[in-house]
Amino acid sequence: MNHVSARSSGRRTTPPRLRAALVSIVTGVVAVGTTVALASSASAGTTLGAAAAETGRYFGAAVAVNRLSDSVYVGILNREFTSVTAENEMKWDATEPSPNQFTYASGDKLVSHAEANGMRVRGHTLAWHQQQPRWTAVLSGTALRNAMLNHVTQVATHYRGKIHAWNVVNEAFADGGSGARRDSNLQRTGDDWIEAAFRAARAADPGAKLCYNDYYTDGQNPKSNGVYAMVRDFRARGVPIDCVGFQSHFTAQSPVPSDYQANLQRFVDLGVEVQITELDIEGSGSSQADSYSRVVSACLAVSRCTGITVSGIRDTDSWRSSATPLLFDGNGAKKAAYTSTLDALNAGGTTVPPTTPPPTTPPPPGDGACTAAVSVNSWPGGFVTTVKVTAGPAGLDGWVVNLPLPSDATVTNAWNAQHTGTSGAVSFRNVSYNGTVGAGAGTEFGFQGTGNGPTGTATCARA
Ligand code: XIL
Repeated sequence: MNHVSARSSGRRTTPPRLRAALVSIVTGVVAVGTTVALASSASAGTTLGAAAAETGRYFGAAVAVNRLSDSVYVGILNREFTSVTAENEMKWDATEPSPNQFTYASGDKLVSHAEANGMRVRGHTLAWHQQQPRWTAVLSGTALRNAMLNHVTQVATHYRGKIHAWNVVNEAFADGGSGARRDSNLQRTGDDWIEAAFRAARAADPGAKLCYNDYYTDGQNPKSNGVYAMVRDFRARGVPIDCVGFQSHFTAQSPVPSDYQANLQRFVDLGVEVQITELDIEGSGSSQADSYSRVVSACLAVSRCTGITVSGIRDTDSWRSSATPLLFDGNGAKKAAYTSTLDALNAGGTTVPPTTPPPTTPPPPGDGACTAAVSVNSWPGGFVTTVKVTAGPAGLDGWVVNLPLPSDATVTNAWNAQHTGTSGAVSFRNVSYNGTVGAGAGTEFGFQGTGNGPTGTATCARA
């Protein structure tokens, strides 16, 4: 659909626009824009968030939590945006600086800000070859795979119910013409690391949409073809993937591709949603404004392109500030690109269909490959726990059980399993002789500790 037909289809979608406006009033996000929208069916949203809401979409920004003390920054954020993505605060190095020791303070601040202002949160990112903590550098093979799965499980569990969509895996495909996976420490743990990460994320937070996110995938090219093949394969095999994020970092050398919309559409045709996740466009003036308009119009023309996130607020907040790639200048003033973006949103387009509600029966804890039944024998000051691992219909060649312990509990020793950590969320992995478990068969391990024994649910997953 070109820009002109997007406009005309926008006029046909008056009832959904009104519906979206009412939703916006209920959530209290965009009161000014909605008042105008209700006054006349031909009226326009006066902020990015209000205008996007008219077709059921969100308009978000990547936010650096340390800038939330800047009143100009926060003023624009709260006025214009309906979704936030943590620029760095939910990445692996930020959330797990030491093995199995998690720090959520910064990410939590962003979530609180979003909740207080009726914004969605996009989680970024659970598994990525960059911005890993230093301690992963010495890990490889099973140890790194388990560390990654534990990370995914713990972080997604911590934010369970608060994240609209998670970028579960980021940038796993190689640049250039191969269409192959990128070489990385995570890739070297085995080709199935991506699906393992998605399964662990689904088990930890069944309500979040789970996305694959990458750059240079914005048009049809060998790299996006590689991602496309993976998503098609995942959908065919029931690997839980709901969405694909297109970072959309554009420069003079790498402008918005002419097949941008067609590329979004072919992913949607695989049964996933798409989102534009880190939009920024190098340049200034009308050429930058035109490029923004093209991107926004393309998303609005694709019914399951559900939202757009720009990779910061003011040019001076950008990770590549010399490219002046954002919608507000360093003083917080609206640029020409802002106006063209708002106009493109107000031109209307397809309306996002209602999302499928999350499953009413939650899937079994873990990835469905196994279950873990816990029995505890405790006495004042100590306990012994026995865990029975039962394999699902496919059998197991390795398993990991995650079990939250009460705050005063410490594991002193374990048998028939090796454990990561001694307190908090402890994970137990098979040892050499009990990783292979036939379909429906079981194996037992145990551990002893001081303090109170576990009362929470154990999750079991393939390792
Ligand atoms: C960038 C951040 O904006 C910077 O603050 C940080 O120093 C490096 O990472 N792809 C991604 C983003 O997925 O998380 C990156 O963000 C930019 C590239």
